[in-house]
Amino acid sequence: MGISRVTVEAAYGQLEAEGYLARRVGQGSFVAARFARPPTETVPPLRTTALAALSQRGHQLVRGGGCSDPLTPFAFAAGSPDLRVFPHDTWRQLCNQRLRHEAATLAGYGDPQGYAPLRMAIAAYLHQACDVRGSADQVLVLTSSQQALHLLGSLLLDEGDVVWMEEPAYRGARTALAATGARLVPVPVDGEGMCPSDDLPLPRLIYLTPSHQYPTGCALSLSRRQALLEIARKQGCWIIEDDYDSEFHFDGRPHPAMQGLDRHDRVIYLGTFSKALFPSLRLAYAMLPAALLEPAITVRTLYDGHSNQLMQAVTADFINRGHFATHLRYMRQLYRSRRDLLLDEITAKLSHLLRIHPSPGGLQVLVELPPGSETRLTRQAQAVGVATPGLQSLYLTPPGRDGWLLGFAALSMDKIRAGVHRLQVLRADLPFTD
Ligand SMILES: Cc1ncc(COP(=O)(O)O)c(C=O)c1O
Repeated sequence: MGISRVTVEAAYGQLEAEGYLARRVGQGSFVAARFARPPTETVPPLRTTALAALSQRGHQLVRGGGCSDPLTPFAFAAGSPDLRVFPHDTWRQLCNQRLRHEAATLAGYGDPQGYAPLRMAIAAYLHQACDVRGSADQVLVLTSSQQALHLLGSLLLDEGDVVWMEEPAYRGARTALAATGARLVPVPVDGEGMCPSDDLPLPRLIYLTPSHQYPTGCALSLSRRQALLEIARKQGCWIIEDDYDSEFHFDGRPHPAMQGLDRHDRVIYLGTFSKALFPSLRLAYAMLPAALLEPAITVRTLYDGHSNQLMQAVTADFINRGHFATHLRYMRQLYRSRRDLLLDEITAKLSHLLRIHPSPGGLQVLVELPPGSETRLTRQAQAVGVATPGLQSLYLTPPGRDGWLLGFAALSMDKIRAGVHRLQVLRADLPFTD
């Protein structure tokens, strides 16, 4: 190689020091035994090795299939906000201002409970927007609602504990709470939300989406809210109120949060900026009962320590300077007009195929399909290039009702029209019977 003996000696010395070579005086230098592999040995595929090494819980988590969100909006993938109309220039200016003055501080480790000015902004916003009670001291900032659900599951549930789940329910919540080994008990949802019967086993935790039930979109009625709060009080159990998209309520006045009705500190309120701002921000929050605050902060330190400090600071500025309120007002109008267009188009062109399930808000519309037709119609829709997220898989105990959850928020008017137009060729075997 035309290099000096000193260089070669240094390289061999380094390899020996790192454990890659074994050097024996008078014999030579050899690849260290732990790196040498008999030529006949076949390497098992990594996938199998990794799965074989999983715990029971790990297997269960993997079998659950995880949760995934669409990377780019397309008709009719559910749950994506429209990011093209986000005020990116304002956001950039706020980032620059913060970086100019506090780059070093914001680059360091942060408070595990969350950046204090953001916690103050969240507490004030929640109080004004949906009557959530509690101060900035009770706010815990997290990366996502999904992280909050995992954290609360591990903090509050033991193996076999009963959790009442809405049926059908948000898959993310189901998988996060099931991961604790808790026993998930499906509780049917009707037009007034979760409807528990007297014969259910008593819960340790109740998971709810009261403002727009996911996926049916209905609101939990006041009498049901009161009844569930009473069960929580008597039983000493917790209620998770997952308020994932109440910012987007279009028809009539939204219900105030259930947490605001709770006089016995049983409700944990969760919110996220994934839809109201943008998903990759990775910021969500919990308003916690005082008794859970210290334990939850401690467990948060065991996850990822804290959320991105710069993004927390910029989000606080975005809220405090009025941009958040302006953005929400604009998005509400935009989404409402898209929702109305989708409903009109479906009514005019697809009523032979499906029935609309009315909802006062949200980023997707639930439609019901003739019983037994979801799988076949979904395949037909795929064949014409339209995604139609199914309802069946959101049931804990199949068979559930057949339907689709059609996302509209991120789609232009043209895309909505084109998507419905393509679905017109679909034919159900059975007509809809009312
Ligand atoms: C009921 C519900 N909760 C939470 C989330 C997700 O929020 P995050 O992105 O903060 O995990 C969603 C997303 O669609 C949802 O439907």
